[in-house]
Amino acid sequence: MVGIGAPVTLLRLCRVDDVADDTPLRVEAEGTVYAVAKAGGDIFVLADQCTHGPGKLSEGTVLGGELECPFHQGRFDLYTGRATYPPCTETVRTWTATVKAGEIFIDPDEPARTA
Ligand code: FES
Repeated sequence: MVGIGAPVTLLRLCRVDDVADDTPLRVEAEGTVYAVAKAGGDIFVLADQCTHGPGKLSEGTVLGGELECPFHQGRFDLYTGRATYPPCTETVRTWTATVKAGEIFIDPDEPARTA
């Protein structure tokens, strides 16, 4: 049997209360920088680095279900990481957020989605 019973080690990022509505939070954990966002009561975790250039998504703005990069105002879908507004064209890496007892975790080894 393949893939059954493999232990998953979750990585703690921050508390849910640390993330303001519509303002992403920069979280560095185990050498990787993440942008953690809250929108519509849901939590989203994306790579902090914009796929278009030097913009940091944790310094961007949540607009509905999208995260706008502060550098050239390109946008990404929070649910899929798919680029939704130019000049962004490449999907940004996302992880599924798991909330336990008010803390946000991810599986850093979760396979990347292909949007
Ligand atoms: S660096 Fe993010 S839109 Fe250009």
